[in-house]
Amino acid sequence: MKIQLRYFTGTGNSWKVLDTCREVFSEAGHQVHISKLDPMEKKIEGVDLIGFAFPVHAFGMPRIILKYLRSLKSFNSKQKVFFIFTAGDANGAGLGTLRGARILKRKNCDVIYSDVIKMPNNWIPFSTILSMDKNTTIIEAGVERSKQIAADILNNKTELFDYKKQPWFFKSPSNVINIMFRNFGLYGLKSMFKLYSSCNGCGICAKACPTGSIRMVNGKPKWSKTCEQCMRCIQICPQESIYQFPASTKGKNRYMEPDFDPLKD
Ligand SMILES: Cc1cc2nc3c(=O)[nH]c(=O)nc-3n(C[C@H](O)[C@H](O)[C@H](O)COP(=O)(O)O)c2cc1C
Repeated sequence: MKIQLRYFTGTGNSWKVLDTCREVFSEAGHQVHISKLDPMEKKIEGVDLIGFAFPVHAFGMPRIILKYLRSLKSFNSKQKVFFIFTAGDANGAGLGTLRGARILKRKNCDVIYSDVIKMPNNWIPFSTILSMDKNTTIIEAGVERSKQIAADILNNKTELFDYKKQPWFFKSPSNVINIMFRNFGLYGLKSMFKLYSSCNGCGICAKACPTGSIRMVNGKPKWSKTCEQCMRCIQICPQESIYQFPASTKGKNRYMEPDFDPLKD
C-alpha cells in the first residue's frame, strides 16, 4: 500500500502516535510518507490510505485542522482515511472525531478508523503538567494504542470512535466551547501571552512556532492572529519566560514529547 500521513502538533504527541503508526506500516512493507500538515495542501493523490493525527483543543478540533479538512478537494474515487486525536483527557474529547468524519465523508472518503488517545496534557496555563515520570507512563500507553490501531488497520478492522456514547453533559457544552474557542477565544488569547523579565530575546519561540505566528519585534516575541494556542512556545522557552495572563507559569513543569524535535518540525 501507498500511505500518506499528516499531523499537526504543539508538543509532539500527535506526531508520536502517527509516527508509531508509520513504523508499524513500514515494518509491514508498506510505502509510507509522513509530514506536517500544510494548510495550503488541497489534494493528496495516488495513495491507498491517508492517516491524520491532531490534538484536541477545547474539546474538539483545532481551527487550523477544521480549515484544512474543509479545504481539501473531494477525492475522485473512494479514499480510505483514518484519524487519531490526542487528548489530555480522552474522556469527553471526541467531538473532533464526529466533525472530522462528517467533513471527510462529504469529500468521498471512507473513514475506516478513528480514535482519541490519551497523551500528556500540554495546556500549561490552565492545567497541571505532570512530572516527566508520570508522562512517560502515559506516552507508553499511547504508543501501545497507536501500534494496535495500525495493526487493526492492516488487518482491515474498522472501528469508529463512538461520540454518541459520550456522557450527555459533555456533548452540548463541548460543542459550544469549541465554537467559542475557535471563533473568539483564539483572537483574544493571542494577546494574553506575556513575558517575564527573564526573556533574553533568543527567538527560539519564533523559530519553533508550528504556524509561524511569532515575530520578533524589538527583540521580543509578538503573537499574531494565526496562533493556534498549541503551547509550544511556552513549553520550549529555555528561560521559561512566557506565560499567559492571568495564569502564572512560574515553577510549573514543562512538557515536550521526548522523541520530538520541535525545531526540525
Ligand atoms: C489550547 C488547548 C486546549 C486543550 N483542550 C483540551 C480538551 O478540551 N480536552 C483534552 O482532553 N485535552 C485538551 N488539551 C490537551 C491536548 O489535547 C493534549 O495535550 C494533546 O495530546 C496535545 O497534543 P500535541 O502535543 O500534538 O499538540 C488542550 C491543549 C491545549 C493547548
